[in-house]
Formats: sequence, structure tokens, C-alpha cells
Amino acid sequence: MKTAVLYGGGGHAKGVLECLWSAGVLVAGFFDDDPAVTELCGIRSLGTFDPALASGLPLLIAIGDNATRSRVARRLEHASTVVSHSSALLSTLAWVDEGTVVFHRAVVQSGVRVGRHVILNTAAVVEHDCVLADFVHVAPGAVLCGRVRVDEGTLIGAGATVLPGVAIGRWCTVGAGAVVTRPLPDFSVAVGMPARVIRKIGPVGIRQLP
Ligand SMILES: CC(C)(COP(=O)(O)OP(=O)(O)OC[C@H]1O[C@@H](n2cnc3c(N)ncnc32)[C@H](O)[C@@H]1OP(=O)(O)O)[C@@H](O)C(=O)NCCC(=O)NCCS
Repeated sequence: MKTAVLYGGGGHAKGVLECLWSAGVLVAGFFDDDPAVTELCGIRSLGTFDPALASGLPLLIAIGDNATRSRVARRLEHASTVVSHSSALLSTLAWVDEGTVVFHRAVVQSGVRVGRHVILNTAAVVEHDCVLADFVHVAPGAVLCGRVRVDEGTLIGAGATVLPGVAIGRWCTVGAGAVVTRPLPDFSVAVGMPARVIRKIGPVGIRQLP
């Protein structure tokens, strides 16, 4: 049986654990920078990251925040793997890169390309020929219609819909329930139906990026 380790012991990690377990993967432990986090669903904390403890095991970065997940991934450069919940529908003609987690009942259709450390959350739908860059998060119930492009680090909020062929820039946030009908430039925060840009991620947000 395969074994993996996690980085992160918060709420998002619980969902990642479920995905691993349903795929028959044992979790040997988890790392967390916060010493107050000692236990995750009966699994013990291994403390701060120690490459010796993770040696030979794939590491899943179970952190929901895209910027934080990307910082950790760039810092560690540890081998990872793709995890897909047993209820997810992952086309054999889709390409998914390592570190990406496909949650319960998510659908990834034919011709899709998904980068590294992407989250395809519960019941997210990624239709044919979409292209998703590294560190994207498609939140629960969001729908990307065919040929959508989502650039690095962007969050597609819960229940949002992106219409066919629309391109979304890097490090954007699409608000929950939005309907994106036109391309969004980098660093946009957009909400509503049709989605309108309400602000750009400010200098503080940008400084936090990798
Ligand atoms: C879009 C979002 C990032 C805005 O957050 P924010 O910058 O803190 O903005 P605020 O809450 O201050 O709201 C600013 C305005 O936008 C409106 N607004 C916020 N989110 C909205 C949404 N999803 N749809 C429509 N309007 C929204 C607010 O009502 C407010 O309007 P007002 O100025 O007329 O009062 C956030 O509301 C959101 O939807 N995040 C996605 C969450 C999500 O799906 N996470 C996935 C977890 S798995």
C-alpha cells in the first residue's frame, strides 16, 4: 500500500486526508509550522518540516490558501503525487501534474491540463480542454466551461461559473457565485453576474506573493 505525508494540519487538510484514504493511501503523519497543531483526525503531528522524516514519501501540501501553498512548495521542492478521491471523475485524456488534489465528486473532462499543487475542490467541474496553471484553486461547486484558461494562483470561488473560452489572469479572486463572461486581467478581484472587477489585489497582497 502507498504511503504519503502531509504539510498542513488545518481544515483543508481534513479533506485531503479523505481523498488519500479513499484512494487507499496511508498517511504517515503531517508537518505543521504551528506547534499548537498536534493532531489531525487521529494522525500525529511530526512538527515542522523535516526532510529526513519525509524521505522517499510523496508530500501533499494540504494548505488551502494559494499564496501560502506556493511559498511552501517553492521552499521545499519535495516530490509529490496526484491524489484523486474515489468518487471523482478524472478523464484518462486529462493531464494532471503532481501535488494536485481532486476532491469528492469533482469532474475533470477530456483534454484538460492541470498544473502543480492545484485544488479541484468538492464537486468542481472542469470541462473539456481547460488549462489551469500551478497553485490554482477551483472551490466547491464551481464550473469551468470548455476551453477556459486560469493562470497561476487564481481562486475560483465557490459556485462560480466561467463561460466557455474565457481567460482569467494570475493571482485573481473570482467571488463566490460569480459568472465570468469576459477575460479578467492579473490580480483582479471580481464578483457578480456578470462578474465585474471590484478591486485589484493591493501592494500588500502582491508583496505576500512568491
Ligand atoms: C470576492 C471576495 C474575495 C470579496 O472579499 P472582500 O475583499 O473581503 O470584500 P468585502 O466582503 O469587503 O465585500 C466588498 C463588496 O463586494 C460584495 N461582495 C463580496 N463578495 C461577493 C460575492 N461573492 N458576490 C457578490 N458580491 C460580493 C460585498 O457585498 C461588498 O459590497 P458593498 O461594497 O456594496 O457592501 C469574497 O467575498 C469571496 O467571494 N471569496 C470567495 C470565497 C470562496 O469561495 N472560498 C472558497 C473556499 S473553499
